[in-house]
Amino acid sequence: MGTDKQFKPKIFTNTDIPSDYIFRRCTSKDLDGVIEVNEAELPEDYPYFFYKSILDHYPESFLVALERNNLNNVVGYVMWRIEKTPSLSNLKLDRKGHLVSIAVSEEHRRKKIATVLLNKSIPAIRKHGISSYVLEVRISNYSAIELYKKLNFKIEKIKENYYRDGENAYYMVKEFK
Ligand code: ACO
Ligand code: ZN
Repeated sequence: MGTDKQFKPKIFTNTDIPSDYIFRRCTSKDLDGVIEVNEAELPEDYPYFFYKSILDHYPESFLVALERNNLNNVVGYVMWRIEKTPSLSNLKLDRKGHLVSIAVSEEHRRKKIATVLLNKSIPAIRKHGISSYVLEVRISNYSAIELYKKLNFKIEKIKENYYRDGENAYYMVKEFK
């Protein structure tokens, strides 16, 4: 199941969006740029096939931000997957939208790029019939925690020793209104 053939370039525009950037779905051609941003900005690295598999399964919520005057330059990305867990209330599996990763290159921060990436990808992952949005974030990651709080994520619990270096994670949840 290739994603490129069915890819229709869709350039999002929105008056809140800093006009130096465009936002669109990721394609396999963008993956090297996505990986570059991830490796520069986050200690959690994933193998190429992991990104490719997220792109194949959840292309509608895997978005990139590009510089408008240099469309080959990925400056940010967001990717989600669906997590299925046994439901407490019935025998069905509960489906949640799990924020796998988001990052923006350091020199492009504080321009609402992450906010736009999340605001565009949240409705896209919702189409999978989920009950809530969830994520983990390092308890020391003040900027990301502030970003998520602004988007109405709430800290639900601490996951002890969640990261390989031993740091704890906040498990944050955004329920539907
Ligand atoms: N200090 C305080 N608050 C911040 C900061 C900061 N450095 N950065 C963002 N925020 C909060 C602010 O409330 C900000 O609104 P404001 O600028 O009007 O005050 C709001 O978040 C929105 O900020 P954006 O401009 O949309 O965020 P940005 O595009 O700069 O990206 C991000 C934020 C993704 C956290 C960026 O700092 C980054 O890439 N960090 C490194 C990677 C990372 O930590 N990713 C998250 C890991 S957890 C996970 O992926 C599930
Ligand atoms: Zn996670």
